[in-house]
Amino acid sequence: MTRRIFIRGLGSYLPEKVLTNSELEKMVDTSDEWIVTRTGIRERHIAAADQATSDLAAEAAKLALADASLDAKDMDAIFVATVTPDMPFPSTACFVQQKIGAGNCPCVGVEVGCSGIVYMLELASGLLERGPYKNILIIAADKLSAVTDWTDRSTCVILADGAAAMVLSTEEKGVRAEYLGGFIAANGAGAELLCQPGGGSRNPATEKSVAERLHFLKMNGKEVFKHAVKDMAFAVDMALRRCGIGPDDIAHFVPHQANMRIIEAIAEYVHIPLERFVAVLQRTGNTSSASLAIAMDMARREGRFKRGELLMPVAFGAGLTSSAAVLRWNG
Ligand code: UT7
Repeated sequence: MTRRIFIRGLGSYLPEKVLTNSELEKMVDTSDEWIVTRTGIRERHIAAADQATSDLAAEAAKLALADASLDAKDMDAIFVATVTPDMPFPSTACFVQQKIGAGNCPCVGVEVGCSGIVYMLELASGLLERGPYKNILIIAADKLSAVTDWTDRSTCVILADGAAAMVLSTEEKGVRAEYLGGFIAANGAGAELLCQPGGGSRNPATEKSVAERLHFLKMNGKEVFKHAVKDMAFAVDMALRRCGIGPDDIAHFVPHQANMRIIEAIAEYVHIPLERFVAVLQRTGNTSSASLAIAMDMARREGRFKRGELLMPVAFGAGLTSSAAVLRWNG
């Protein structure tokens, strides 16, 4: 018999420092007006120089564990989704394991861009269903400021830092939500539209690669935008079909917080009123893998979700990956 999978705890962390649009106006040739009209973003959080991705991840993990009333030692596995690992290897999950005082459980890195949370829900739930795993900590964290080219106005105005975590469990005890199923996919044909070309085995770090700024995130914004809308709409449709429900059954869509215009376009594409989409990007910017879980955590703290309602996290990211899941909110 398939075991049911619950989200027992949820937590998110944004670094202290806030970078506003008006501060960005002093750094690159941009304006608050352009950023707000083209993206919706007003401010974002930026990690301190001595904070690595694992530090952000550990903060979010501790909050999720406290929310679940569980200890790090209760975790049977730790997954960390990030595109800004502390180092190319070992996995950032191993650093987090040490920082939160977990036991010697398996640690897994997931590299799927902004689809991180939904990918981990799907992958970890496979382990939980099969057993003997009972509790798995999934964390999405990114320090995008570390790979941001602060001279590139087309990317530096949208990227930000943050982390979010969920404790998944097979035990139905004080749970926040139940995971009912989802859909994950990737289209490698678009892999180079959003990438960090330098520092890997294709272009190892050299003076030349650094001079060519290959160690920074590169994005073809216009093309990514088009894929984002189409692929997320497809993921929504697939996840709904898999769960045997329709769009009207979903009370709240919790999309990847990339750009308000993308969220508006998806709402229009799938014929769902914009009011049913959670948007916090005005305050957070695009925090990559963590973004939708940060949005979910902020919205639940504001009391937006009611017991029994269905939620749909939906994301899109580097890869090009896409993903959507169905959750039943418990409180
Ligand atoms: O999280 C992973 C997934 N990523 C995304 O989902 C991002 C998807 N893409 C986007 O959100 C948008 O494409 C951007 C926000 C990145 C860019 O918005 P856009 O409306 O697609 O702008 P654009 O690239 O077509 O540029 C329009 C104009 C250009 O000027 P010209 O050539 O028309 O004179 C740009 O040079 O806007 C200019 N521009 C800016 N102007 C002021 C680009 N960035 C800026 C800026 N400030 N920051």
